Amino acid sequence: MPAHHPVLTRRVVAMVLALPLASAALAGDEDWADTWVLAGPCANCHGLTGNSPGAIPSLDGLSEDELVARMTAFREGTADATVMTRLMKGYDDEQIAALAGWFVMMSETNWFEVGVAQ
Ligand code: HEC
Repeated sequence: MPAHHPVLTRRVVAMVLALPLASAALAGDEDWADTWVLAGPCANCHGLTGNSPGAIPSLDGLSEDELVARMTAFREGTADATVMTRLMKGYDDEQIAALAGWFVMMSETNWFEVGVAQ
């Protein structure tokens, strides 16, 4: 077995470079990997970086406060919505705050600069 696999090595290097960046952006949140998992389903509709395809509203461009307010309103049922009112019922305040921080970080990161996107 070769000791060195160039493609795998490059992937691992890209991941190792990206991860501290993600964790640093979520200041004080040691559980960034949990947030990654939490934010996974959101990406299906809102895109990985919050830039939604089609008619679904984008999350990029919204501040952390705005994201928290929108998500909380969905959860409380005070915002007019289709899917989000049902979806947000499953999230507590801490998770909503983590998700808001996550999508601000994802939309503000220059993925070209960090070498993850080309
Ligand atoms: C099945 C598709 C779908 C999924 C999954 C989904 N969303 Fe949404 N999201 C929508 C739609 C559609 C809207 C517009 C409001 C509505 O009709 O529910 C929306 C609206 C929003 C808004 C308000 C945006 C604005 O401009 O006001 C936020 C914030 C949001 N979603 C966050 C999330 C987060 C965080 C997750 C993951 C936990 C998530 N969404 C998962 C479809 C989705």
